Amino acid sequence: MESPAGQALPGPAMPVEIAGVRLPNPLVLASGILGTHASLMERAALAGAGAITAKSAGPLPRSGHPNPSCVAWEGGLLNAIGLANPGAAAEAELLARTRARLAPLGVPLIASIFADRVENFARVAREVAEGGPDLLEVNISCPNVASDFGEPFAGSPQSAAAVTAAVRAAVDLPIVIKLAPNVPEIGRIARAVAEAGADAICAVNTMPGMLVDLESGQPVLANRSGGVSGAALLPIALYAVYQIRAAVDLPIIGTGGVASGADALRMVMAGATAVGIGSAVYREGPEVFGRVAREMAAWLAERGLRLEQVRGRAHERPAWPEPASTPPVPHAASPAPAAEARGH
Ligand SMILES: Cc1cc2nc3c(=O)[nH]c(=O)nc-3n(C[C@H](O)[C@H](O)[C@H](O)COP(=O)(O)O)c2cc1C
Repeated sequence: MESPAGQALPGPAMPVEIAGVRLPNPLVLASGILGTHASLMERAALAGAGAITAKSAGPLPRSGHPNPSCVAWEGGLLNAIGLANPGAAAEAELLARTRARLAPLGVPLIASIFADRVENFARVAREVAEGGPDLLEVNISCPNVASDFGEPFAGSPQSAAAVTAAVRAAVDLPIVIKLAPNVPEIGRIARAVAEAGADAICAVNTMPGMLVDLESGQPVLANRSGGVSGAALLPIALYAVYQIRAAVDLPIIGTGGVASGADALRMVMAGATAVGIGSAVYREGPEVFGRVAREMAAWLAERGLRLEQVRGRAHERPAWPEPASTPPVPHAASPAPAAEARGH
């Protein structure tokens, strides 16, 4: 793959589009991982990411939760970083510096924002937009700040729609609403944000969880609970993306537990246009992007398929014969069940 400036980039070209913004490949650096410095975000792009999401920024600087705030376990990560960030004004400057590095590579920049109140989402959106990101992601789903901010806005269709409408009215940028996995019916939340003006959806944020230290009997994180990400989140994220795709016709950045080309293709089959990667970057480094893209391209090439041809496949009816509607009676003197089933 080559950048618009002619620079060689790792990984095959597999362009996709989100709300009119072109990504050279569908793999997106998820928010909160490496998204704090221009050089780290550039490094992820040079390693083959198709878009870069910055860490979420809020109205004011925040130092986040005390350590330990992130631990690895066999199913992935558990984190309660607590939305540490430099505040919206400094974030706009970081975004401007990052954009200058990413634009020559043809890799779009996604800003991410959070806030404590609907009107503050609009304010932060306006401030952060000054940094010139290509897309604006609205994090209404962080599970680790309930003590400061209460229940996440992603928890109900009404509050999710209120934030979406406020940000929609505040900026001209395409907006991506980031949803939470721990809701009873994510399709309803997706419909509410679509009707309120979302251009795309990112699904999902981390799932609330806790680990307990055996010797002390205490929760491992200083915050006690945190957000589960990585392998344990993959089936939860796949089902969320599947339900969202069935509910709305918006591009989805499917995020949660992706660590291989096979995982990423499954996310596309569930209905995602692009695929976020977070915890696997933490474990493997930014080189994960080139590897996952190559694995996706090899799987598709072996079958003579393009990415668009597998998108949403999980929603299609199976191609194999349907079973007979009445199960055959055991030992009955009737034709073999397989032969009978074929006629239907
Ligand atoms: C250490 C860490 C920090 C995160 N910080 C943010 C954040 O600031 N904003 C956000 O929207 N999501 C944040 N997330 C969630 C990720 O963007 C992603 O939705 C989640 O980790 C699932 O993807 P994964 O399994 O590939 O990591 C964070 C995740 C981790 C592990």
